Parts: sequence; C-alpha cells; structure tokens
Amino acid sequence: MDQAAKLRDLIYRSQQNQSDQATAKRARVITVTSGKGGVGKSNISVNLAVQFQKQGKKVVIFDADFGLANVEVIFGILPKYNIFDLIVNKMSIFDVLTEGPMGIRFLSGGSGIGQLLNLSADQIEYLVKQLEILDEHADIIIIDTGAGINEAVLAFAFVSGEILIVTTPEPTAITDAYALIKSICNSPQFYQTKPRMRLIVNKSRSPLESQEVFDKLNKVTERFLNLSLENLGYLPDDRALVDAVIERKPFSIIYPKAAVTKGIEDIAARILLENQTEIKSEMQPKGLSSIFNRIFRRK
Ligand SMILES: Nc1ncnc2c1ncn2[C@@H]1O[C@H](COP(=O)(O)OP(=O)(O)OP(=O)(O)O)[C@@H](O)[C@H]1O
Ligand SMILES: [Mg+2]
Repeated sequence: MDQAAKLRDLIYRSQQNQSDQATAKRARVITVTSGKGGVGKSNISVNLAVQFQKQGKKVVIFDADFGLANVEVIFGILPKYNIFDLIVNKMSIFDVLTEGPMGIRFLSGGSGIGQLLNLSADQIEYLVKQLEILDEHADIIIIDTGAGINEAVLAFAFVSGEILIVTTPEPTAITDAYALIKSICNSPQFYQTKPRMRLIVNKSRSPLESQEVFDKLNKVTERFLNLSLENLGYLPDDRALVDAVIERKPFSIIYPKAAVTKGIEDIAARILLENQTEIKSEMQPKGLSSIFNRIFRRK
C-alpha cells in the first residue's frame, strides 16, 4: 500500500470506530479566525473560554497560531510542552495541556504546528486517539488560528463546524475577511461541511457602526458567494483590553466591569444559548478528533 492508501485506510478505520462509538462524547469545536492579523482573535478566544468556564463548561483552547504564541502571552504562562511532544514524543494529551486561570487548559501549537500536515500514518493514529480522549473530557474546544489565508488556517476552517470570523471596522480588515470567507467557500470541502460562519466586529465605536460592517460584508457574501453570515455581535474599542494584555491576564477576569467584558459576556451567552441541534448539516464534524481526521483526508 502506498502512503496515501495507508492514510485512507487508517482514517476509514478510525471513522468506523467513531460510528461504533456513536454515543462517545464529542466536544463542541469553535474555530476563531480572521483575514487580517491583530484584530483580536486571541483575546476573544481566551475571554470566551473564561465565560464558558464560568458557566460550568470544561474548556480547552488549542493555540494553532504559527507565529507568536498568543494564548500563552495573554495568560502570562509559559507552557512546558506543545503538540510536538504529543506527536513525536508520544506524551499523553493530559500531560501536554497547560493549565491557565480558572482551570482553563490549553494546548500550545508551538513549533510542532508546522509539522501537522506532514505526519506519518503512525503519528496520525496516535494524535487522533489522543484527541478522542480530549473530546470526551472537554465540553468546548476553541481553536485560535493565525491570520490570513495560509494552509493551516484553511485546513482548520474547511473542516470546522463553527467558524467565528473576527474583523474590525477598518476597510482593510473587512476586505481581508471577505477574501478569507471566499477562499473557505471556494473549497470543495466547504459544501460537505457547510460550517456556520459568524462574524464578530471588534473595536467598534458604536452598535450602529458594527451593524453597518456586518451588513456590508453580508451583502457581498450573499451576492457573490451565495452565503449568509450570522451576526454574533461586537466588542467596543476599550483601553481595558490593552491594559489586560500588558498585565498578561484575561481582560474579563481583571476588569469585570469594563465595556469590553460586557461585550464578550453577551457574545458568549449567545453562543451558549444556541441549541446544538440547530447545527444544520449532519455532515458537520463533531469533536477535535474528527476535525483532524478531515484535515488528513485532504491529503
Ligand atoms: N477591543 C479592543 N480594544 C482595544 N484594543 C484592542 C481590542 N482588540 C484588540 N486590541 C488590540 O489589538 C492587539 C491584538 O489583539 P490580539 O492579539 O487578540 O489579536 P490577534 O487577532 O490574535 O492577532 P494575531 O493575528 O497576531 O494572532 C491587542 O494586544 C490590543 O492592543
Ligand atoms: Mg492571535
């Protein structure tokens, strides 16, 4: 068997195994992404995690950024291990997770992330098994991706059931968000998965401004991509967020009364209120393990 056939076989067996365990718990996976860099993805990921954890959910953040490891910076914690230790050194998933405030755990992509698309069949098998274990223990997994249209970002976006796109009202951020949405929509995988695509407008100066940004972007995606976005709301431009980054603590923990904290509380409540059965397609992957399965199936 050649390498590709081995992989297909492996994934087929793993999927069979998954349907055998139809009752196995799978975490809800939310991918946070953007076209332009620096628009607030990592702050939104971390503070959504804080809100979900407050509501009694067990949350794990997967820091899938290629560049600066943002989640660890915002938590002010240097992780000991990253996904490289899981895949290459065969450590267990629980040993490579780092614990942040309020018991939120995170998996650092670190330098290992670049290797994700070049794994051996044996490494894939191990990784998927470990992620199945994680799925059983977490309620929600948030993937914080890097910005822009690169292979890794698209790999996650193509296969996730829920995509949160972050933009700011800046015209360049809106244009880049549209380019990213277009790349996601133009992939054949998109039509299999039909992910929910939802928008958060960050650094908005007013509710009206954020509504205008949503309307503008939604109008072009409806017209040219035949895709309706969902509006998740907005976060104000708030000095409290900048101060919290400097202090290396999540803003919603150290500034509970800040306007930006109120904003993230509203967005988190909206996400949690949604009935999971609303998720449209049967084809939507559930759990991080099946997301990785789909990434490898693209090979
Ligand atoms: N709502 C806000 N109010 C004020 N400043 C903000 C806000 N959101 C983001 N910023 C500023 O933007 C910076 C970048 O935010 P963050 O690291 O969350 O973005 P990112 O999208 O994850 O960036 P990258 O693309 O580099 O991963 C913050 O450190 C802060 O200075
Ligand atoms: Mg980031």
